[in-house]
Amino acid sequence: GNAFDAAVAVSATLAVVEPTSSGLGGGGFWLLHRANDGFETMIDGRERAPLAAKRDLYLDQNGDVIPRLSMDSPLAAAIPGEPAALVHLAEKYGRLPLKKSLAPAIRAAREGFEVDEHYRNLARFRLEVMRRNPETARIFLVDNDVPPVGYLLKQPELAATLESLANRGRAGFYRGEVATKLLAGVRNAGGIWSQRDLDSYRVVEREPIRGEYRGIRITSAAPPSSGGVALVTMLNILAPYDLQQLNELDRTHLIVEAMRRAYRDRAEYLGDPDFVKIPVAGLILPYYAQRLRSSIDPERATPSSALNGKAMEPEGNDTTHFSILDQEGNRVAATLSINYPFGSTFTVLGTGVLLNDEMDDFSAKPGVPNAYGLVGAEANAIAPGKRPLSSMTPTFLESNDRVAILGTPGGSRIITMVLLGALEFASGHDPQQWVSRPRFHHQYLPDQIQFEPDAFSTSMKQWLTARGYTLKPLQNTYGNMQAVLWDRNSNEVSAASDPRGGGTATIKIDR
Ligand code: GLY
Repeated sequence: GNAFDAAVAVSATLAVVEPTSSGLGGGGFWLLHRANDGFETMIDGRERAPLAAKRDLYLDQNGDVIPRLSMDSPLAAAIPGEPAALVHLAEKYGRLPLKKSLAPAIRAAREGFEVDEHYRNLARFRLEVMRRNPETARIFLVDNDVPPVGYLLKQPELAATLESLANRGRAGFYRGEVATKLLAGVRNAGGIWSQRDLDSYRVVEREPIRGEYRGIRITSAAPPSSGGVALVTMLNILAPYDLQQLNELDRTHLIVEAMRRAYRDRAEYLGDPDFVKIPVAGLILPYYAQRLRSSIDPERATPSSALNGKAMEPEGNDTTHFSILDQEGNRVAATLSINYPFGSTFTVLGTGVLLNDEMDDFSAKPGVPNAYGLVGAEANAIAPGKRPLSSMTPTFLESNDRVAILGTPGGSRIITMVLLGALEFASGHDPQQWVSRPRFHHQYLPDQIQFEPDAFSTSMKQWLTARGYTLKPLQNTYGNMQAVLWDRNSNEVSAASDPRGGGTATIKIDR
């Protein structure tokens, strides 16, 4: 097979062995590059709001948000896109039958995978809600508690659902026995899915977002992800500066100010392009970046309050990413999600399918001032059949001789992680440095620089504070970047997996 078959196999296997992060009950974006004709597309397998969803789905009679309703119940689950996307990917771009590409995932579901510390941490984080769902507790907990390290977690019902998909394609999930169980499970628990939702779910192929940064071509995720637009905006703002020649303080200052401005636009303009008009062409124009750049004071932090915008909605941060390059030069960067760890924590009886809580990525209360006195994003309001705004940023970078494939999970911080990775690529560093460099993040509001332990020295912290920044040190590291580099001159390939995660990078050459 090719990279696209591998992407089907990897997506499906991650759905089994990382129930924390993605799955058949979720969705994602697969960015593709086909080597023989240079064709590039983004497969949008993002979840869609049920057709019965209303703008005020999560508000009470007083118009207040009902806490956790969009996170912890079947009402939080949007219509899954991953099964349809895998079928689409296999049929349109792969060479192998779905039965073959899904075989490793089916085996892993039947034979089990060993629980690791990452699983345990996230299960601990969601334990209380997982316990409330008997099917979830039965499959993903042991005696109603977090399973021990090394516990062999088997999912025979999920194996059967994957087999149904392998044998019957789309109809094996969205129609027939699996669909009947999904609808009964969701509706009996208070959800609002219908057969019409399952029948009308469509994968959409979207033109990726493109840009250029100092001779590097950028190809990244299109709306309904905000990732590509914000990434290109930030790189456009930074393009005239020779960042490597600047001292660390000035460099960090400019990068943070670029982040601030791109995230301000994100909350204002971005949503599902099938529902709202997004001024994409204008936002990624270098001329527009010049205007944004002209508002940067080289010596002082710009208070976000001076830029007049909206806060972004908080986002779930458990998602997954993989990057693949095959021997023909086909590429896949894929970021997949069920949103919060273990999604909505609701597993549908008899299917093994753990449902997403991607509905939480919508703006629950648009048009109403939030705690900061700011008005929430109209562009990302809930509507029937609409896709919630995402930050997932699967990306390709290309100079004349080097090709990079990268991305990461991490909620709203995904885009700034990919930005920092892209700047490492631009500096000529290798993938191990892109994935392991210390990280910092600014998202317009709250107006603060969040940073990993050890990201800044004591002097840097003092200098940043003196420039007017509020610093928010994080207790933990974040992200899990997976990256591949192909040097076309030497024809060498290198790959790296984030040291913060449990993965490894593999170079496998079949001869
Ligand atoms: N649920 C995370 C994202 O879509 O960005």
